[in-house]
Amino acid sequence: MKKWYDAIKEAQSVDEIEEIRIAVFGKKGVLVAEFAKLKSASDDEKAKIAQELNIHKNALMDELTSRKITLQTLELQAAMRSESIDVSMFSKTSQSGALHPVMQTMDRIVEYFSAMNFAVKTGTMVEDDFNNFEALNLPKHHPARDMQDTFYFKDEMLLRTHTSPVQIRTMMSTKPPIRMIAPGAVFRRDYDITHTPMFHQVEGLLVDKEGRVSFANLKYILEDFLKYMFGDVRVRFRPSFFPFTEPSAEVDISCVFCDGDGCRVCSKTGWLEVLGCGIVDPNVFEAVGYENVSGYAFGLGVERFAMLIHQIGDLRSLFEGDIKLLEQFQ
Ligand code: PHE
Repeated sequence: MKKWYDAIKEAQSVDEIEEIRIAVFGKKGVLVAEFAKLKSASDDEKAKIAQELNIHKNALMDELTSRKITLQTLELQAAMRSESIDVSMFSKTSQSGALHPVMQTMDRIVEYFSAMNFAVKTGTMVEDDFNNFEALNLPKHHPARDMQDTFYFKDEMLLRTHTSPVQIRTMMSTKPPIRMIAPGAVFRRDYDITHTPMFHQVEGLLVDKEGRVSFANLKYILEDFLKYMFGDVRVRFRPSFFPFTEPSAEVDISCVFCDGDGCRVCSKTGWLEVLGCGIVDPNVFEAVGYENVSGYAFGLGVERFAMLIHQIGDLRSLFEGDIKLLEQFQ
């Protein structure tokens, strides 16, 4: 019997203990076999052997149980050690997102005009020919359509080439006076260092009674706006052409890179073109059924503003989703 006491002492796992229990106490185990031997023993021996066997039986059971409890405790401790989580350990920090630089710039533009009491309007990106061209004094075969080639669907539906159709939508659905801006995505068939097929514009439109809106009003607000966006820059208006404004102007700011001295970015001119504007053409008012009103309008490209504010060289990089560029705007 001694060997079983040793075996219990030396057992290293709960599994081993179970094996020993079966070997000693099982149906085919040692104790059953020992008790079976009693049959062949003499009567006085029988009582003595039975007594001894019973003592062993109880003692072995006690040993087995206590060793099992010890091993269970050890195994539990080992498992807790190997499966534990160190809550104080530094984790890999997850990347936190940020607003895209184009959206940041758009927000800043909207912020300025909201403060000036302009309402924010949105149209649709899929527009019809009337809102995008026709009503803006750009009839079917007008050569100015060439500069705004875009993606067409059937039935004269197209991806809008500018935010100007939002002017038409707003005037068709509301009475004057109007004081609105329209930020949003627009589409053209262009792709080079300063053009992408999708980009963003902010349109502005102000309409009031005839004679109440002048070019001076337009000039004042745009100068103030451009100083808000670019700091202490000089602003100049150059005569230009848009079918939907007359007179029309293109607006330049003194180059933000060389402060007007002339550099590579401004092609040595000292000036950077930043937006288009003008007094609303009477044909536009006629197309939407407005009478006895006057107004001004302007439109600008948000990517161009973002590029100049953040000194980004290639407009296309704003759309590549490169984390190295985007991280700089967190
Ligand atoms: N829609 C013109 C463009 O995309 C910009 C513009 C808007 C010019 C309003 C004048 C007035 O080029």
